[in-house]
Amino acid sequence: MANKFISIKEAIEQGQGQVSIRGWVYRERGSNKLKFITLRDSTNVIQCVLDRGNFDSTWSEVDSIRMETSMELSGEIKKDERAPTGYELQVKEFKVVGKSENFPINKDQSVEFLADNRHLWLRSRRMTSMLKIRSTVFAAIDEFFKGEGFYEYHSPIFQAVQCEGGSELFSVNYFDKKDVFLAQTWQLYAEPAIFALEKIYTISPSFRAEKSKTSRHLTEYWHAEMEVAWANFEEIQNYGERLLKHIVKKVLDNNKPELELLERDWKKLLPTLEKPFIRMTYTEALKILKDKFEMDIEWGKDLRTIEEEKLVSLYDVPVICTYYPKKVKAFYMTEDQENPEVVQGCDFLAPEGNGEIIGGSHREHDLEKIKARLREQGEDPAQYEFYLDTRRYGSVPHGGFGLGVERVIKWVCGLDNIKDAIPFPRTMERYKP
Ligand code: 4AD
Ligand code: MG
Repeated sequence: MANKFISIKEAIEQGQGQVSIRGWVYRERGSNKLKFITLRDSTNVIQCVLDRGNFDSTWSEVDSIRMETSMELSGEIKKDERAPTGYELQVKEFKVVGKSENFPINKDQSVEFLADNRHLWLRSRRMTSMLKIRSTVFAAIDEFFKGEGFYEYHSPIFQAVQCEGGSELFSVNYFDKKDVFLAQTWQLYAEPAIFALEKIYTISPSFRAEKSKTSRHLTEYWHAEMEVAWANFEEIQNYGERLLKHIVKKVLDNNKPELELLERDWKKLLPTLEKPFIRMTYTEALKILKDKFEMDIEWGKDLRTIEEEKLVSLYDVPVICTYYPKKVKAFYMTEDQENPEVVQGCDFLAPEGNGEIIGGSHREHDLEKIKARLREQGEDPAQYEFYLDTRRYGSVPHGGFGLGVERVIKWVCGLDNIKDAIPFPRTMERYKP
């Protein structure tokens, strides 16, 4: 085989002359004179032609090349308007690296079949595009926080406390102990660390035993969380807004071809970059829902998916909804001084029907209030002593938020279901392959 291999993208950029490429057979068809192979690698696809005149002695091998065979090909590349990506390779030499049996995935397979064969479906151009965007999103989150002077910090995944409601905890068989769960959030182990590092973030898996079969819930998802000392409620919201703008900017800078392959109208993301987010209180949100949609929601009820969807349908940028009723939010949120019925919690609701992508708050500093709210939720404050110490030794105003990475990917990519924002989705019903 000839010289150095280059990617299909590089070969197309070169546009002429001799090239050597390698990858997998995406499509193949042929007659007894010509074989057409569309080769794919991680960068693109290209049409390749093998002429029997050049391969008469090995034609049976050429003829037997099937979808997903891995190969090396050398030859001359030239422009060809009829080829799918505008170029064609006239093959001079080929080598089969790994044969492929009959690949089970071809056209028009059911969603279930594709889910059962997820390990193979990952190779599809749709999944490849999503995975590239996913990689950009993770990098953008890191870059944003590092750029703002945050330290990366890690909480344990085995935890003996709940933070976001006990009903959604996964118990673990931990040497016969009864009170060990998978992390729902890093938060209770992150707050102690702001006394050391002040500004911290993580991207880590979180686990929720949600019994909901919706297009936005996973049982295992990647959670980007931050916690910051000395911050007030508004500053926490500002960090969330800047982070989302940064993620969207990075995806638009790096992944327009992938967004187009996913048939995502990426122009719909531009307002998020260019305009300030909409900020409103929960009480204002109820009024808007009543005025615009005649939806009568009793004050004190949490916003449901349908209500979030209606609300965001009015805007082309995310909505930051604040000051929710205390009783629908977690025990650690700061009670508002003027109205103790509401807390300094914020949900970021993404446009185009996507709903909550970030949940955050300022953190209550009053030890007795925290204990009382834990008791109201049926928790024993004694289990939380390590956490309560954060309020005993030099407490400072602080807060943070959590961003559901797959929810952001679903929105940015315009996906119908969150399951397509992660390589191997875990839901109530699916934990294999
Ligand atoms: O709103 P949540 O429950 O907030 C917390 O966990 C806080 N402790 C975060 C913090 O302040 N450090 O979850 C945060 C985000 C949600 O806004 C949502 O985007 C995502 O996590 N999320 C899920 N994503 C996918 N599947 C699920 N089942 C999710 N549950 C929450
Ligand atoms: Mg939430």
